Amino acid sequence: MFYEYAKKLHEDIKSGELLTRHDDYEKTINKIEDMKKSLMYNYFEDTNTRLTTGEITSECLTMVSAGLDNTPLNFKYGIHQLVNYHPEMWHTAYSELVEAYDGDVKRAYNECGSDMRCEYIKAIVQETLRLFTALPMALPRETTSNVIYQNVVIPKGTTLFMNCWAGNHDERKFPDPMTFRPERWLTTVVTESFQEKTVVDTTMRHFAFGIGCRMCLGNNFAIRELYVLFCKLILKFEPVPATGLVPTDNPLALNSYPESLAIEPVPFNIVLRLREHAGNGTPA
Ligand code: HEM
Repeated sequence: MFYEYAKKLHEDIKSGELLTRHDDYEKTINKIEDMKKSLMYNYFEDTNTRLTTGEITSECLTMVSAGLDNTPLNFKYGIHQLVNYHPEMWHTAYSELVEAYDGDVKRAYNECGSDMRCEYIKAIVQETLRLFTALPMALPRETTSNVIYQNVVIPKGTTLFMNCWAGNHDERKFPDPMTFRPERWLTTVVTESFQEKTVVDTTMRHFAFGIGCRMCLGNNFAIRELYVLFCKLILKFEPVPATGLVPTDNPLALNSYPESLAIEPVPFNIVLRLREHAGNGTPA
């Protein structure tokens, strides 16, 4: 079905048909230019450089499978922090998100994925990724030539691991590193209209996606996914304070499989209450 859809889209772009179907000419032209760079479009182009069906399938599988564990694991850890340790942050996130859409909860719910307006929730995402560090030693990499590092030769063919955990918990960069503190990502800027605005500090970096030319290819996508997941959950539910024993928030101590490459938190319970407005069709 997707094949037929993509084939028809390709035909409609080539014939100019797609352009006639939309009102906003400039927006459609830009979209078409983007589509022309896509793997799918070039698959239907009759050129020597096009990918094979096998390669396209592999790319699609990578896109689905590469984030299958890491994204939900981060989400699970973030919820644990917010519900079991910091419900006050959940409430702040709710107010700031709704305020960003002038109090319109339904709009916030429907549009959060396209414009990512709430800086506080973006900061929650960054802090979750940093503190949790789903792949603490990233992925193993093999050197393809001799590498000289600080007067030491690392021979070609050596398997290297990068200690992302150490970078993400370095107290020189992240004071009090084991504390969940989204505010550390926020800074104040002055806008063109001379208003002060709190935004995520784009000069700050963490290592949750690795670093360098082989860093996570899906990092922007994963950040958006986590942002939308947090927004929608926060808009629909409010946290109920935990009773009884709450598991630790230390990701390493929370890990079910210490021998594995990724950190997977042990099962734990949280209690959420459906917000009153969520029952009457708002948000959708
Ligand atoms: C929160 C979610 C995610 C985390 C924490 C994460 C983390 C990582 C890390 C640490 C690496 C290794 C980087 C290195 O060796 O320096 C990696 C590689 C990769 N990730 Fe992700 N990832 C996430 C989600 C995703 C998603 C959603 C996709 C695809 C849609 C994706 C696609 C990839 C690919 C293709 C690579 C291999 C890149 C290469 O070898 O050049 N990841 N990821």
